[in-house]
Amino acid sequence: MEWKVRYFDYPLQFGIHEKEYTEIIKDTLARGAYILGEDLMRFEENLAGFVGAKYAVGVGNCTDALLLSLHAAGVGRGDEVISVSHTFVATIEVIKFWGATPVFVDIADDHNMNAALIEKAITKKTKAIVPVSLNGRICSDIDKLVSVAEKHGLAIIEDSAQSLGATYKGRGAGTFGLAGCFSFYPAKLLGAFGDAGAVVTDNTEFADKIKMLRNHGRGKGTDINLWGLNCRMDNLHGAILDFKLTKLPGWIKRRRAIAGLYNSGLAHLKQLRLPSPPVEGGDYYDVFQNYEIEAENRNELVNFLNARGIEVMLPWGGKGVHQFTALTLNTFNLPRTDELFRKVVMLPIYPELDDEQVKYVAQAICEFYNAGQW
Ligand SMILES: Cc1ncc(COP(=O)(O)O)c(C=O)c1O
Repeated sequence: MEWKVRYFDYPLQFGIHEKEYTEIIKDTLARGAYILGEDLMRFEENLAGFVGAKYAVGVGNCTDALLLSLHAAGVGRGDEVISVSHTFVATIEVIKFWGATPVFVDIADDHNMNAALIEKAITKKTKAIVPVSLNGRICSDIDKLVSVAEKHGLAIIEDSAQSLGATYKGRGAGTFGLAGCFSFYPAKLLGAFGDAGAVVTDNTEFADKIKMLRNHGRGKGTDINLWGLNCRMDNLHGAILDFKLTKLPGWIKRRRAIAGLYNSGLAHLKQLRLPSPPVEGGDYYDVFQNYEIEAENRNELVNFLNARGIEVMLPWGGKGVHQFTALTLNTFNLPRTDELFRKVVMLPIYPELDDEQVKYVAQAICEFYNAGQW
């Protein structure tokens, strides 16, 4: 297939700053700074500042971030943890890993957890809530979510894997609860050249515990203070991500501009449900990790776009976590999530796309629905 618009283009992204990356890699390697070095510490400090949290702790990936955070929050055997099925399996596998039980609530029209349904899902066993701010947008009604959690004494561990830099009323994704967990998977807003992740928190004791858990239970010296794991972020990734973090605001701006273009090209189509368009000065500052739409005749639309050289994606292959039968979580009644997975498709969105490509995608979608020209 000769693609005209790729869904991702890693080599293109690399090429733009190849010189800087090469220098950073050479410098870091020449210093022999591989594990828990000053580059990682610097990145952690800058990341915390960017998010608006007191501490950031670099870990191997966001799955590690969630795993360690749940453990540090005291989630264990017999507990229940409330989350959503419209997420990557990582969000849920970490709950199972500690012997706890995931409890799903349905999503709202923003494709994130419906805060109005949380209270009904709480039982005596509920220990934590893991809201997922998908696609670069903080869950709608996070205020309500926080107040329900406070009322019932539940920890909030945010899965902010997809929302670095997003804000709600000026407050950063990842800062609404005890901890926020970020992914630097290559396709993410801030992508590593491999796996990396981070936990952010304002809680000193919690941050210290995550630091020990990621490093075999060690504190500053060689003493082992608790059972831990090896979940460290490589120092080399700290160095690379620290450079990339300086570019992130510009990349986010470009993603928002692309989302605006999609919105103006597609908003008139009744067959689609689009994400809220980017607005300046509103409550939400969305960062558009993905441009996830709901579309009538989705499968035919995907084939039509592919035939025009446009690569699109279904999130996680087109299934929510409760729909993977091997995971035996299919007893939940989640009508809005089920509806979403019948219709959902994600359009290409990344800073290197040019306006003509975005218009080409929107034009093709208009053509499919026979709705006239751009
Ligand atoms: C919502 C969500 N949660 C968790 C993860 C896991 O992140 P990682 O691949 O860094 O472990 C991802 C990444 O794909 C994600 O999108």
